[in-house]
Amino acid sequence: MIKSSTGTSRTAFRPPLLVPGKTPRFGTVDHPLIAKLAKDAAGTFNHCRRVANLMMAAAFVLRIDSLDAWVAGLFHDISKLDDQDLFLEAKDGSRSGRKPITLEQFNRILSHPRRAADKLRCLDFSRIADAVEQHHGTALCRAELVEGSPEPETRNYPGPRPSSKLAALLMIIDQFEAILNAKLSLLKTIGKTDLGTMTNSILEEIWTNMNKEKQLELSGFTYQDLQFIKPVFIVVLNEERLNSLPTAGKALLVW
Ligand SMILES: [Fe+2]
Ligand SMILES: [Fe+2]
Repeated sequence: MIKSSTGTSRTAFRPPLLVPGKTPRFGTVDHPLIAKLAKDAAGTFNHCRRVANLMMAAAFVLRIDSLDAWVAGLFHDISKLDDQDLFLEAKDGSRSGRKPITLEQFNRILSHPRRAADKLRCLDFSRIADAVEQHHGTALCRAELVEGSPEPETRNYPGPRPSSKLAALLMIIDQFEAILNAKLSLLKTIGKTDLGTMTNSILEEIWTNMNKEKQLELSGFTYQDLQFIKPVFIVVLNEERLNSLPTAGKALLVW
């Protein structure tokens, strides 16, 4: 069991998850954009929901605002509502069959963190807008361009790089959820031990790559923080597994 520097346990947290028919402890989320995401972009909604659940639990152990973390997770890709045909996971969660895209589409992908942040600033969620704007940092966008397309000005997201632990968490968890989901989609079942091993190796790989690219150096997020969040990831993932993943659109949206 991991203990904090003050000796208190950080693994006793039972996260309130966003699953059908259950009401997490934070009031009600009844936001039209999230309802629209659930209805029109089921894959993105489920990705955001899973990111939100992990964000809340990780924020709890790192002692940053869990509600901010949860809302940041839920809304971080809200701009994908405007580009449903572009983001392949948007409708059904499928990442297979990724097709090459045009230069204009490529640039839309690069701008989605800023456009999501702009929406949040308009919605009075400015407390989390910076973290959302930074959720891809200046990472490389690996989308493939159609043959003969002009070369983009840059293949990297415009950033800025995460400037807070909240933003670093969002960047890590966003990647983690996408990689884990892709791996799990290839499996029929997975046991608790294997899930733990997989979680550990994905997080370590993400950490190594982000460090190489210096994505997190302004955020204050440390390797020790990464070790603290691993056990609660397993708690959340198992809780999700036990509840079986909800069909998008049927989930009770609560805040
Ligand atoms: Fe994103
Ligand atoms: Fe995302």
